[in-house]
Amino acid sequence: MCGIVGYIGQKSGVDVVLGGLEALEYRGYDSAGLALVNDDGGQVFKQVGRVNGLVDAVNTEHPASNLVIGHTRWATHGTPSLVNAHPQSNNQQTIFVVHNGIIENFAELRERLQAAGYNFTSQTDTEVIPNLIDYYAKQLPSFEAAFKAALGDVHGAYAIAAISTDEPDTLYAARLSSPLVIGVGEQEHYLASDPAAIMAHTKRVIYLEDYDVAVISGNDVDVHNLKHNRHAKPKAELLDYDNEQALLGDFPNFMLKEIFEAPATIRSATLGRALADRSLVKLGGLENVLGQLKYIDRIVIVACGTSYYAGLLGEYLIEELSGIPVEVHMASEFKYRDEPFSRGTALLAISQSGETADTIAALKKVEDYGVLRLGIVNAVGSTIARMTDAGVYCHAGPERAVASSKAFIAQTTVLALIALHLSNGNTKLFKPLLDELDALPAKAQAVLDNAGRIKAIAEKYARHRDFLFIGRQYAYPMAMEGALKLKEVSYIHAEGYAAGEMKHGPLAMIDKDFPTFAIAIDSPLLEKTISNIQEIKARGGPVIALATQGNKSLEQLCDDVIYLPHTMHETQPMLQAIAVQLFAYYIATARGFDVDHPRNLAKSVTVE
Ligand code: M6R
Repeated sequence: MCGIVGYIGQKSGVDVVLGGLEALEYRGYDSAGLALVNDDGGQVFKQVGRVNGLVDAVNTEHPASNLVIGHTRWATHGTPSLVNAHPQSNNQQTIFVVHNGIIENFAELRERLQAAGYNFTSQTDTEVIPNLIDYYAKQLPSFEAAFKAALGDVHGAYAIAAISTDEPDTLYAARLSSPLVIGVGEQEHYLASDPAAIMAHTKRVIYLEDYDVAVISGNDVDVHNLKHNRHAKPKAELLDYDNEQALLGDFPNFMLKEIFEAPATIRSATLGRALADRSLVKLGGLENVLGQLKYIDRIVIVACGTSYYAGLLGEYLIEELSGIPVEVHMASEFKYRDEPFSRGTALLAISQSGETADTIAALKKVEDYGVLRLGIVNAVGSTIARMTDAGVYCHAGPERAVASSKAFIAQTTVLALIALHLSNGNTKLFKPLLDELDALPAKAQAVLDNAGRIKAIAEKYARHRDFLFIGRQYAYPMAMEGALKLKEVSYIHAEGYAAGEMKHGPLAMIDKDFPTFAIAIDSPLLEKTISNIQEIKARGGPVIALATQGNKSLEQLCDDVIYLPHTMHETQPMLQAIAVQLFAYYIATARGFDVDHPRNLAKSVTVE
């Protein structure tokens, strides 16, 4: 989604900001721009499309400045266009603003400003901000006071960076429900909505909190929290971020690279946590809430998209291993429900980015309920990681492709560990599952070694318009995740269904042009899934089956079979995930799509 980069210091701010915008490209965007202030005043550059277009436009003019803000925009209000791209400015072109989030009362503010003589050229909500600052700057003694007064008028969610030609030595920033960090260098400061944008320069960061307003110069940062009316000189924290992992290496794109990281992902999610030799699960992130965890009698999982499907797997895992009842809600729905909540309930938020607006809102909703708030998060230091009482990091490393792959595998692995932890050893599966988690990276590698076969099958089906994914028990959430992956990167209509539901409706769609991807792994339920496959075949529907190595029974029945190594039911999803991810990937590449940047999607959904 939208990205913000800013710089103030001695270096070429233009180069820093352009480099930062390039680092944010993975998030998805439709236009990009920057504004700078120097002795000659202010200047704005914008381009629709890729950041390299902006780089070319800026480099033809070689502007010099030590105070620059930049933005990648993912359209919410108004189409992707030059006029709607950020930075937005006031009528005199002296105040420049970039903004992530949504100003909910922008229409009312625009009317107010129009009545005061202000003109608007864009369809964006953002354009009210520089004009509102301008309006207050004419009445108040300083830009800082005007900036704060403007923030007092806006309702919604925002991360904002602002600069003015009247203040060539100051960068202003503010956040409410949208991430923003200040990077600390030597006599210089950086600003970013995602640390990935500034990691090439510094790993020392100050996290801004909700209602913080930061006044930033090369040497100093002053933070004023408007809600608590508190001033602070915040300390920088060291960010744990591996730049190497964010590079492509020899892979053609991040999606394939990240799918191929599955074995390493399982290893790092379990490292030092799944101690098979000692029959122990050690989750350091939960240690400060061990006392509270003993009294938990219900867990509500909230998440979106792929993380929601991991949550559904978590429901099976936690209920089976620990006996604690679990409910899973889409965070976007959970926010608006009115359900009873007891003190014995824990809320567990699952998020790769740690910045998903709906999941953050779900956590905020229970803020005053006195319930334990837990997180399974991949992005270290992200908003969700910081607002939960305790949690377990996924340790999957940066995930750059919009379609989540390795993070899903890490989330599911962590959920298995949490389920084992909550079981207190009172399940006969405790030791076998720990042993299996140990063996799993090698089995994940075996699935990857079969990528050539998955590619050949994917290419055979690449021109179909519809797809059905079916499975039972643990394979049911995997069917939904398989369908989501295919939709996202290949734009093929796909649905994930519980195999047992086929006769209750979906069977009506089946014909020779409507293939089914059946997850038919060895299990006590296999016979039932085979019956569903037979019903599909009887109606002429092509079937690709995901089967267990060594079980040849599906070869007669199905059109194509992909084999997975034998593993426990509880660890099957991690192997099935690799197969459905590769299947979606190879269909999308066969159709010629940019898998890392699917149309209309963003990596981190920071608005509702
Ligand atoms: O960062 P989060 O895990 O909170 O993101 C949730 C969803 O937006 C995300 O999983 C989305 O569905 C992915 N594009 C799926 O591949």
